[in-house]
Amino acid sequence: MTFQQVYGYEPSVRYSAPGRVNLIGEHTDYNDGYVLPFAIDRRTVASIGQRDDRLLRVASAFEPDAVHELSLDELDPSRMSGWSAYVFGIAWALCEQAGADLSGKSGFDVFIESDVPVGAGLSSSAAIECAVALAFTDLWDLGLSRKQLARVGQYSENHAVGAPTGIMDQSASLLGEQDAVVFLDCRTLDTAVVDLALESNDLEVLVIDTRVEHAHATGGYKARRDSCERGAAAMGVEALRDVSVDDLPRAQELLDDETFRRVRHIVTEDQRVLDTVRTLREQGPRAIGSLLVASHESMRDDFEISVPELDLAVETAMAHGAVGARMTGGGFGGAAIALVDREACGTITDAVTSAFAAAGYREPNVFTVHAAQGARRD
Ligand code: GLA
Repeated sequence: MTFQQVYGYEPSVRYSAPGRVNLIGEHTDYNDGYVLPFAIDRRTVASIGQRDDRLLRVASAFEPDAVHELSLDELDPSRMSGWSAYVFGIAWALCEQAGADLSGKSGFDVFIESDVPVGAGLSSSAAIECAVALAFTDLWDLGLSRKQLARVGQYSENHAVGAPTGIMDQSASLLGEQDAVVFLDCRTLDTAVVDLALESNDLEVLVIDTRVEHAHATGGYKARRDSCERGAAAMGVEALRDVSVDDLPRAQELLDDETFRRVRHIVTEDQRVLDTVRTLREQGPRAIGSLLVASHESMRDDFEISVPELDLAVETAMAHGAVGARMTGGGFGGAAIALVDREACGTITDAVTSAFAAAGYREPNVFTVHAAQGARRD
């Protein structure tokens, strides 16, 4: 399916936005903490045609034959369902969260295509949101910055789609740069771009998509978020960002064992992000391996969001010489990343694939990604 086949004319513009991989800093975003993601060279493209009425229509290559439509006068989450909420929700959140006035604006025909794998924890949803958010702010001339658009994307995901996620994915998709990671302070949204220098170090990032599907609108993700909020309240701070590694003994006295371990993951993970940034700047990517592995262990043992497939991916990659490896994203499935020597990509891919077969797991999808530019008009 193409835009032309659905709507019968050629689109006037195209915007695209990438998925993301998080190098380190997991579940820290909604605790006002630090994250270190990068945008990847897998993108979602939104092709757009201008209409002269108030209708928004959306269609996509992954749902042929379906065209969803909503008037700009009827924007409300109760009228949005399924994947089209990722598009309609942005128009709604532009008004609701960013105060945009769409009276007098006309609608669009939108067609979505993507090579960001869905359900792999690589933020295929943020890629749609960010491509569309950038398109709408440009075409409606709303003058919003990328940081404002990240907030709009998160708001839409929280309230139109219904997933209680943080700000990391949209920030990475909007602010990513080639060959670099985005160091983001999720409280202030201050960012710094940190050189990854993989190419000059003969390194690659392998994504190991376990193909175990996760869903953040339900279940474990929200439960972790609730534990973190309970922990922060018991510690008398606004967010776990305000607890340091030195405060952990006091946290252990105050909290039940499970809440304490959730808190310990967040507090140590924030510290690992800061350590990774410093290490990247001072020593380069070959020196961050033990931080990546420590992050994985903390998610496996303290935050308990890994699954056996992710653990096997990490263990196998490390056993075959990876510099570092960890699960990435929200957990409960999705993907792991491994930082590997360029010439070891084939060996490690084969080793992980055989280990999955031997364990009776579904065949994983293993591929390399490169840090790419964020959302743009193409
Ligand atoms: C998902 C959410 C993000 C973040 C990660 C975990 O990807 O969308 O906001 O919380 O999980 O780090």
